Amino acid sequence: MKFIITFTFFIAFHIGAFSQSFNSAHFIDSLLLQMTIEEKAGQLSLFTNDWNDSGDMIQDQYVELIKDGKVGGIFNAHGAAYTRKLQEMAVNESRLGIPLLFGFDVIHGHHTIFPVPLAESSSWDLEAIERSARIAALEASATGLHWVFAPMCDISRDPRWGRVMEGAGEDPFLASAIAAARVKGFQGEGFVQPDAVAACVKHFAAYGAPQAGREYHSVDMSELTLREFYLPPYKAAVDAGAFTVMSAFNDLNGIPATANSFLLQKILRDEWNFKGFVVSDFTSVLELLNHGTAENAAQATLTALSSGTEMDMQAFFYLQNIPHLVNKGFLEKSVLDAAVRKVLQLKYELGLFNDPFRFCSVEREQKMLMKDEFLEASRDMARKSMVLLKNDASLLPLSKRLRKVALIGPLADSRQDMLGGWYAAGDGKKAVSLLDGLKSKLPDCEITFTKGCDIVAQDEQDFDTAIKLASEAELVILALGEPAWMTGEATSRTSLDLPGMQQELADKILSLGKNVVVVLFNGRPLTINKLDQNASTILEAWYPGTMAGSALADVLFGEYNPSGKLPMTFPRSVGQIPVFYNTKNTGRPWDGATNTTSRYIDSPNEPLYCFGFGLSYTSFIYGDLSVDKNQIIDNELVTATIELTNTGKFAGEEIVQLYIRDLVSSVSPALKNLKGFQKIMLQPGETKLVQFKIGRNDLAFYNKDLKRIAEPGEFEIMIGTDSMKLKTVRIRLL
Ligand code: NOJ
Repeated sequence: MKFIITFTFFIAFHIGAFSQSFNSAHFIDSLLLQMTIEEKAGQLSLFTNDWNDSGDMIQDQYVELIKDGKVGGIFNAHGAAYTRKLQEMAVNESRLGIPLLFGFDVIHGHHTIFPVPLAESSSWDLEAIERSARIAALEASATGLHWVFAPMCDISRDPRWGRVMEGAGEDPFLASAIAAARVKGFQGEGFVQPDAVAACVKHFAAYGAPQAGREYHSVDMSELTLREFYLPPYKAAVDAGAFTVMSAFNDLNGIPATANSFLLQKILRDEWNFKGFVVSDFTSVLELLNHGTAENAAQATLTALSSGTEMDMQAFFYLQNIPHLVNKGFLEKSVLDAAVRKVLQLKYELGLFNDPFRFCSVEREQKMLMKDEFLEASRDMARKSMVLLKNDASLLPLSKRLRKVALIGPLADSRQDMLGGWYAAGDGKKAVSLLDGLKSKLPDCEITFTKGCDIVAQDEQDFDTAIKLASEAELVILALGEPAWMTGEATSRTSLDLPGMQQELADKILSLGKNVVVVLFNGRPLTINKLDQNASTILEAWYPGTMAGSALADVLFGEYNPSGKLPMTFPRSVGQIPVFYNTKNTGRPWDGATNTTSRYIDSPNEPLYCFGFGLSYTSFIYGDLSVDKNQIIDNELVTATIELTNTGKFAGEEIVQLYIRDLVSSVSPALKNLKGFQKIMLQPGETKLVQFKIGRNDLAFYNKDLKRIAEPGEFEIMIGTDSMKLKTVRIRLL
């Protein structure tokens, strides 16, 4: 018997190896014919490995399941030797020898950790972002991985939600461009190369809009808002060729995303023509019971699978329920086969039927991790990600002639926090802290250091030391923010103030009247009004990754001139949330005087720092904005031109932003929507003309019938340095 089975596999295997051109459909058909229903259910089941560094943690229950051919993939297992061991179990010991898929949350780097995604998004640098994903894929694929659970494409207007750290911010245009860049980076030249990993677009859909910013909470939104603002980044990632999609935990308008055929069938398959498979999020099939939309495991399985979630992550529901659902006639065999076919298709395209071990080379792994060029790319990405929020006293860039600097703050010498959340196989011990970075940049300067206070506890113990060190120094660098564990999954907050006693520490240090540079490490917009009032200099560093301290030293000492711009609005207070730039005018827009217009009685409407905001060490002046014609007929393009001059003393890059406002349309339009951006490098004194082409598509929106159309009428074309400081001209669409 064993021989026959082995022989069957041998034939199937070698047919696959025999020719690249061998028809995958035929191959998969013949495999399906040999599979039992249990084995098919197994292909639709993804289980987690309890990974630790020794790599031997997989539980016995999974070993048995793998050998029984009841596992489609394992996640959280990585390392060439370890994945080989698991793959050998699947290939050599299961009846049909179907190889496993190995997935992992490689979100912003695998071993070489890049800045967190929100930080990378602040660079608005699509090439650099694609490169970051490419490097992550090179490292991931060298450690046996085939599949990464990224990019996260959830738009969010609510920084209380901790996962804004993993996304690209609040704007669909910017986030779409970034989503596509990430997919291209991960999937590289395609799966024929063993250095491409399959991307997974998550969390479909609207997971970034939970009520009150509370993790996993329900999402209730109109289809207009969904289509206009929330869906575009997922679509961009699908259009860029992402092979898989992850369904979200939340319910959308009452229907959990994991069993939502409107999302998974109508939008994803019928409208977007997505051909790959959908994996549930961690136990989200089981959570249908908690949502109250399924009565038992069988019903949850049936509704999730038939709505379009092909793979069950960790709930065990598919494995346990599919066989009797099919046997009893509740689940069509054709639905099961169609799902299995898609999983096998990815394995086929990854070349795993030709060589299940093509990703498991220890030799390649040794050469590929944390290469110098990867570390350099991470450092460069980190510099590009930082946003200069304030430099009123022109303290920055700092002079290398400084002889005594006090570095104060609970994050000043943290290596682990620099990696942020979801740091994959990153090792905090290998990260460069700010203190490390300063020491190597300024070997002859005395750098004194104290934490000043704990990062979260109400403790002032170290305040006196901090005050003493600050008083004795020529300059103080205050490193404040959130610990990395405070952002990411399940980290919603109701206060966005600096945690612990950090604000009090800052107050004490700032009251000394010394030159103080504040460096912030955080994964979300914080409410920093008080800091903004009292500190002259604030640099937003986010979580910059492995090379954090080196990149920061480059920026602080002017070897890199900051150019990042905020991808998400910084509110003045939690009470303003959601506050975002592409808001509507309302019927009673705030006019600056009348009580009964749209405003707060205790706060300005405007945020602290708007979307797109970010300073440079140099200054840029925008000239007049002109258009080559002031009307568009049919598919004509208008060219908008603006003159940009570097009027300061440093060479620098400016991210020039194009926004469009539809003045009158059948659905009340946003005040502006980002429609283009360019990163322009200018030497001191240099001027360049920056041009954008604008066509009908840039003027389109979803009308009340949910059709994307451009309506004739007047539009404002706005170009400038952020979403509030803009030059405007009008054009008309005929
Ligand atoms: C839950 C998270 O929501 C998702 O983003 C992640 O990919 C899975 N867990 C797997 O770790």
